[in-house]
Amino acid sequence: MRRRLDPRRTAEEFLRSFIITIDGPSGSGKTTTARLIAQRLGLRHVDTGAMYRAVTLLAIERGVDTGDAERLGELAEALKIDVLAEPEREPRIRIDERDVTEAIRDPRITAAVSAVSAHRAVRAAMVKRQRELADQGGVVLEGRDIGSVVLPWADVKIYLDAVVRVRAERRSAELARAGVNAAVDDVARELDVRDTLDASREASPLQRPVGAYLVDTSETTIEEQVERVVSLARSAAEERARTRALVTPSQRIRAAYWATCTFVQFIFRVLWGMRVKSYLRIDRAQHYLFASNHISYFDPPAVSVTLPREVHFVAKDTLFKIWWLGRVIRFYNAFPIKRGVFDREAMGHALTLLQSNRSVLIFPEGGRVAGGKLGEARSGVGYLAIRSGAPVVPVYVEGTDRLKDSFFRRTRVRVIHGKPIRIPAELLAEYQSEDDRALYRRYSDMVLAAIQALKERSRS
Ligand code: DC
Repeated sequence: MRRRLDPRRTAEEFLRSFIITIDGPSGSGKTTTARLIAQRLGLRHVDTGAMYRAVTLLAIERGVDTGDAERLGELAEALKIDVLAEPEREPRIRIDERDVTEAIRDPRITAAVSAVSAHRAVRAAMVKRQRELADQGGVVLEGRDIGSVVLPWADVKIYLDAVVRVRAERRSAELARAGVNAAVDDVARELDVRDTLDASREASPLQRPVGAYLVDTSETTIEEQVERVVSLARSAAEERARTRALVTPSQRIRAAYWATCTFVQFIFRVLWGMRVKSYLRIDRAQHYLFASNHISYFDPPAVSVTLPREVHFVAKDTLFKIWWLGRVIRFYNAFPIKRGVFDREAMGHALTLLQSNRSVLIFPEGGRVAGGKLGEARSGVGYLAIRSGAPVVPVYVEGTDRLKDSFFRRTRVRVIHGKPIRIPAELLAEYQSEDDRALYRRYSDMVLAAIQALKERSRS
């Protein structure tokens, strides 16, 4: 049968393609919950903690010190691990075909895993695989940083938590089933140490991701918590289907804007071999906040001509003083921003635009950052996203800083649009009830993590 051409998808179709993330401290019930949810919804399941445990197991077997960042990084990079569990199967963890499902639960591994997983090189290698595993969708991933760093664009994010006593009782019972006798007090102390390490490390600390529902499991049964997550996922899928079905366009693109953008894009393609890759499936009725890295003065035109919306963007106020340039950039929806200070007026204007269903392009690093590495995120993008509620589309651009060298395609200009980061309406209402700069900052960090993910796949 031919696939329907209708771009509208049903809630059920959305649900089957969803990425669901479950983060939380040890003993909060992540693994059991994730497994049952995956079974209920027919999704695959990835236990990312098992991946860090597998690296730790190999390190111990090969006598690699848990402080040796370089060798641990190499081990993680070379690791051949199989963690993906199909919906109906008991998950087995394999390294090079060897079944290590039980071995990685050994107390020696548990004691060493926090130190191993704190190394940036180890995390980078694991995060890359986790993103690959999530690529096709239809998967539940559980861990500590999945909704915040690994997959900021996940469709449903959950943060499971429980008071430490309850978590210790669960762990102790679990150990008893495996034939290990451990007093609840001792387990509680050990959990506390591990939580502190996981939450205080510099690289991707354990935190409740922005946009994650908090599910406290201290007093719920496992069935109740599974039911709660399943119903949250179902409503998210229904909401997505509803938004997709809306047909009134958010904003019409002016003909002259569209025509010149098409022309400029053509020039970029011919002269600089521009390539555009997009993971974005836009909803007609939706406006977006596009957030791009920034390496050159040519980014605003290079990025905006590739976007499926007419966008508004900020430009240095001094540019508006050059009369002809001022007129040109105003036509392309630029509005002035003062450099070097937090320009409240410009941010207010961007917010007003978003609130009146216009799309905006901003550069979350706050200015150009040269040298091939992304800079630090400012709080601006988080502020605009939370205050306006607009989904944020991460964008990665490269090559615009070498237009002279890349003339006639020696190096290409590339632009990649990622999947939108969305915050559920009830959480947005909660966030909007206060003015929390730390929250804006965490949102901005998440956007930068998403741009970093696009950067890493720009060559693949
Ligand atoms: O969930 P678990 O106990 O199997 O996790 C083992 C360790 O791995 C835990 O101490 C923290 C670390 N971990 C992590 O740093 N990031 C993840 N995404 C998952 C686990």
